Amino acid sequence: MPDSPIIEVVDLVRRFADRTVINDISFRIDRGETLVIMGGSGCGKSTLLRHIIGSMKPTSGSVKIFGEEITTMNEREIARIRGRFGMLFQSGALLASLTVGENVALPLVQHTKMSDDEIEEIVEQKLQMVGLTGFENLKPAEISGGMKKRVGLARALALDPELLFSDEPTSGLDPIMTAVVDQLTLKLTREAGMTAVVVTHDMTSAFRIATRMIMLGHGDIIAQGTPEEIRTSPNAEVQQFINGEADGPIPLNLSQDEHEHHRHVKPRPCVAARGRFHLKTS
Ligand SMILES: Nc1ncnc2c1ncn2[C@@H]1O[C@H](COP(=O)(O)OP(=O)(O)OP(=O)(O)O)[C@@H](O)[C@H]1O
Ligand SMILES: [Mg+2]
Repeated sequence: MPDSPIIEVVDLVRRFADRTVINDISFRIDRGETLVIMGGSGCGKSTLLRHIIGSMKPTSGSVKIFGEEITTMNEREIARIRGRFGMLFQSGALLASLTVGENVALPLVQHTKMSDDEIEEIVEQKLQMVGLTGFENLKPAEISGGMKKRVGLARALALDPELLFSDEPTSGLDPIMTAVVDQLTLKLTREAGMTAVVVTHDMTSAFRIATRMIMLGHGDIIAQGTPEEIRTSPNAEVQQFINGEADGPIPLNLSQDEHEHHRHVKPRPCVAARGRFHLKTS
């Protein structure tokens, strides 16, 4: 018998007013996997994560996390589940009035009965993991963007979660610090059995950590598979994305309505940046 999935998303739909951002998506994540979610800016990656962690309710569909339906849970039930996973938000989401150390301590204060000394020790250890020893007394406003990201990661790891969500963990980090964060993810998944769901635009990082990849676009899953399957995918949008090419089937700066329009007039292989630039200036 295969293990039951740690996350199971079935027929998830999310509309904002008349815009469908997530259009009937289904997938599962098994324990120990590192799932990388990719896709163009604004395609719905962060929105998808918010639905999985229960901070947004879908228009329809089901999300099970640790085998429990989260879409119908109340705040109290969601708070209980929150003690089992860590989340690094895209913006860092640090509390400005708290120090770095207090931010990392927050989940420990909220979800455990540890003493101040125990908390301090864990905070120190987590900050060391992300290369921020000695910064505990600074406020978020006093550290750099990349440092904020790493504090967010230290906070997400404070409770030694069995499941970690990271939204753009390495954006704003230099290549060396990116490698450090990737190594940390690999160590925790391989050695501690953690499951990771990572949204990233950084293809070096994505291929370094992923055991499976999903590419989102037009509200759907465009492609999914092992890193090798994605690397060799015959899908032109996947190839354009992973190779970072300006010209290709993925349109630039199209609103969702225009996306819809282009979907209906498919096949239309080259609605590229240059084509639109032309339209605007001619
Ligand atoms: N609360 C909201 N109300 C209305 N629209 C929303 C809301 N949250 C997200 N959206 C819309 O959903 C779409 C997807 O946003 P999302 O933040 O999930 O994109 P993303 O894939 O994470 O992009 P990026 O790579 O830039 O972070 C966007 O068009 C956004 O405007
Ligand atoms: Mg996002």
